[in-house]
Amino acid sequence: MTFETKKDVLDWYEKQPRTLTKEFMGAIAWNEVKNYSFDEKFVPVLLYMRDVEALTDMYYDELRRTPTGKDPIISKFMERWSSEEQTHGELLNRFLNEAGFETGEKWQTQVRRDVSRFYTVNNYLIGCLTNLIGKKFTATHMTFGAIHEMSTTQGYRRLEELAGHPVLSEILRGIIREESAHTHFYRSVARIELQNSEFAQKLSRFIVKNFWTPVGSGAKPKKESDYTIATLFGGENGLDSIDKNVSPRIQCLPGFEGLTKISDKIGQIVSQQTLIV
Ligand SMILES: [Fe+2]
Ligand SMILES: [Fe+2]
Repeated sequence: MTFETKKDVLDWYEKQPRTLTKEFMGAIAWNEVKNYSFDEKFVPVLLYMRDVEALTDMYYDELRRTPTGKDPIISKFMERWSSEEQTHGELLNRFLNEAGFETGEKWQTQVRRDVSRFYTVNNYLIGCLTNLIGKKFTATHMTFGAIHEMSTTQGYRRLEELAGHPVLSEILRGIIREESAHTHFYRSVARIELQNSEFAQKLSRFIVKNFWTPVGSGAKPKKESDYTIATLFGGENGLDSIDKNVSPRIQCLPGFEGLTKISDKIGQIVSQQTLIV
């Protein structure tokens, strides 16, 4: 589905019902979580994913101060988007506790407190830079958003496949449906913004090519980010899901022809981690 205007994209998004409704969450078989085995090697992966979901709030606060976040259409989307990401984090956290890995009541406060100082300084600088470039930076924000949503979705798919835990699978499938709607919003707005300006195309490509890192890196320690990526995308055919479902879809965006950055970066992390192990 392609859209002519950002307003059309928002109208489409607002028509999408939430997947993770009260009914959906009420029907999750929490009491069955312990009936199935859950490999402990996925615990740090779930913690990482939970934290990244929870930190969306912080990212949203930062974005609201930039020209992108002040765009009435994007800010309307972001309000719902950020609250959906919170739900994802909470569901993953509940799963961990039900599986016997207690996380403590104040985990959200702790996650925010642990965000590295580097991230805070770096983001302040990025904030200044984006305000300087103004609206032309929106295309870059939206492209980053699309890449993050797509790679997160693939991460969840891999986790579902590798962990093979029926209750977790049910939760992840619900989360994935919401991530897919987020992807569609970001990608569609990115396409519209990129089409409108050759400068935006050049700037976005330059920034993605030189500065893109997997979602959560910067805010979370590199070790945790690398472990998550290597666990999910390592092993035989591990990178296929990125090569087939992320890179080609990014390459379809105006100005992004032939860009292999996402596959390259994830592949590089996977092979480095394999060497360490
Ligand atoms: Fe999410
Ligand atoms: Fe998302």
